[in-house]
Amino acid sequence: MKIFIDTADVEEIKRLNDIGIIDGVTTNPSLIAKEGRNFEQVVKEITEIVDGPISAEAVSLDAEGMIKEGKELSKIHKNIIIKVPMTSEGIKAVKVLEAEGIKCNVTLTFSANQAILAAKAGASFVSPFVGRLDDIGEKGMDVIKEIVEIYKNYNFKTEIIVASVRNLEHVKESGMLGAHIATIPPKLINEMFKHELTDKGIKKFLEDWEKVKDK
Ligand code: E4P
Repeated sequence: MKIFIDTADVEEIKRLNDIGIIDGVTTNPSLIAKEGRNFEQVVKEITEIVDGPISAEAVSLDAEGMIKEGKELSKIHKNIIIKVPMTSEGIKAVKVLEAEGIKCNVTLTFSANQAILAAKAGASFVSPFVGRLDDIGEKGMDVIKEIVEIYKNYNFKTEIIVASVRNLEHVKESGMLGAHIATIPPKLINEMFKHELTDKGIKKFLEDWEKVKDK
């Protein structure tokens, strides 16, 4: 299971990448806006930190515009993945960009049928948003289960990125269902390290070590 970090916060990316558990990065216009910095500069800095797929989102609504943006963004670094929305124009753009060797991530995906279209267009990645589905009273992880099953049936090469991850259950279930990737906000990645028994255990071992270390 690959872990992508879902942020445009360069310092957090650096810190978690240094630990050695980050396989890629996803950004979106809202995450970029949160940093209040120049989009291309931020993306360039991220490519200098993480050696893996880095998603940068196109903001055009028509295929032609997305293709143009995709071609420009892909010049920043070989690891740039173009995020396009799950629309007919987006799918049209994916077909063209992927044929030219520019990898795409179909974002704002909320159903298995949408994921079938992304795979048919040859997208390298598809991003179903589980948290936003939970927000409207649906079960986001059910959609992941469906997509995993369908992709296996047809041996589709598109990798599933579980996105809009909001809690540790989402992360664990992504692994249990066999999703290729979970893109996780830094705060949640930090929480993955923690267990109260780990802290308690370390404390006890150190206390006991103090008793015998000089013997
Ligand atoms: C990542 O690719 C998505 O853009 C992100 O996970 C969306 O998360 P949100 O639903 O919390 O905004």
